[in-house]
Amino acid sequence: MSDFALKVRRYDPESGEPAYWEDMSIELEPERSVLDAILKYKADTDNSLAIRCSCQAAICGSCGVRINGQSRLACNTQLGEASEELRAHDGTIVVEPMGNMPVLKDLIVDMDAVHWKKVQRVVPWLLPEGDPPEREYIVPAESMIDITQSMACIQCGACVSACLSMEADPEFIGPAALAKAYRFVGDPRDSQTEERLRDLAEDPHGIYDCTHCFACIEVCPKDVAPMSQIMRLRRRAIGDYGIKDSNNGYGHEKAFVDLVEKYGTLHEAQLLPKSFGQGSLIRSQIDPDSLKQLAGSFPTVIAGLKSGKVNPIKAIWHKKLADQKQVKRIYNEVESRGERIELNLYIVGEDPSDNEGEGAQEPAGGDRAGADAEAGKSEEGAIQ
Ligand code: SF4
Ligand code: SF4
Ligand code: FES
Repeated sequence: MSDFALKVRRYDPESGEPAYWEDMSIELEPERSVLDAILKYKADTDNSLAIRCSCQAAICGSCGVRINGQSRLACNTQLGEASEELRAHDGTIVVEPMGNMPVLKDLIVDMDAVHWKKVQRVVPWLLPEGDPPEREYIVPAESMIDITQSMACIQCGACVSACLSMEADPEFIGPAALAKAYRFVGDPRDSQTEERLRDLAEDPHGIYDCTHCFACIEVCPKDVAPMSQIMRLRRRAIGDYGIKDSNNGYGHEKAFVDLVEKYGTLHEAQLLPKSFGQGSLIRSQIDPDSLKQLAGSFPTVIAGLKSGKVNPIKAIWHKKLADQKQVKRIYNEVESRGERIELNLYIVGEDPSDNEGEGAQEPAGGDRAGADAEAGKSEEGAIQ
């Protein structure tokens, strides 16, 4: 047994008092969880301390809180580890309610007001067409594997709590709901794939509102890698359906890819106008909508010039990479593939052409999932 110091954020709206910190000292084994410590304090000292929990086994998703500033499951965080990590202040474990959601009481946030509302926004059920089959729907195994990762979500809200875009734009549909959207976009029984993608691409708070900060991947306790699911939604929208959205998601991606192909590195000065022109520099200067968007970005450009962040000479004369052939080789290789291969990234294994691989199933680490997906890496033959 050891003594653990906890600092817990408390708030009771009925008291009329502002939120405050309460210091606690709990004696428990280091292997026990932060949730165990809070429940012990409730049982022994103050039963009014509020926290949501049920399974105590990282399954139900109820006990999401922020521990030492990071969104996690209280039942899945050991006291010993939490007190020793760098984020802890002098060994004190700091426990707060999750972010980006209103606090109802102490460590309980209003999941209905934010998380569940956003999940409902993506129509989280199948929309099949025609009469249902007499017996069950038969779905190719590969298709179900493709969506297994998004199906692993336990709706804990940790990613919503950590999302930086949602902090800046509370209307952003957000990581958990968009991961749920991929679950249905990737399901071959659904008949509204294009409509769903168009809807999420056209929404100003939709798939192009994510800023790739990786926070959701870092905190997710189930390796759902929500950001990777959002990137897959974008690839489906652009690559499979050519959806040219009014948020310039299509234009931005096209401009980015074309510029790197031409220069080897990103020509920042051309990125903005080309993005507004759906990938075309000429269109950005003649299309009234593109011109309007371009004019709207001038204050940012001027601020960049004033602060020295933008160097006008470097911005205009962008040098090509010395060995442009290598860049071209990568583009040729990717473009020569007949189709983009999207497989669930829980499943990794041996590339048949690589004799060194062992061929194994292992859970995907978020970063690996993102990296493989971004690289469009082929995992053909990877399913064991
Ligand atoms: S990667 Fe995107 S969705 Fe995930 S936390 Fe960052 S901004 Fe939010
Ligand atoms: S994606 Fe992960 S972090 Fe987000 S709600 Fe689902 S399980 Fe929790
Ligand atoms: S209590 Fe169920 S996930 Fe923590």
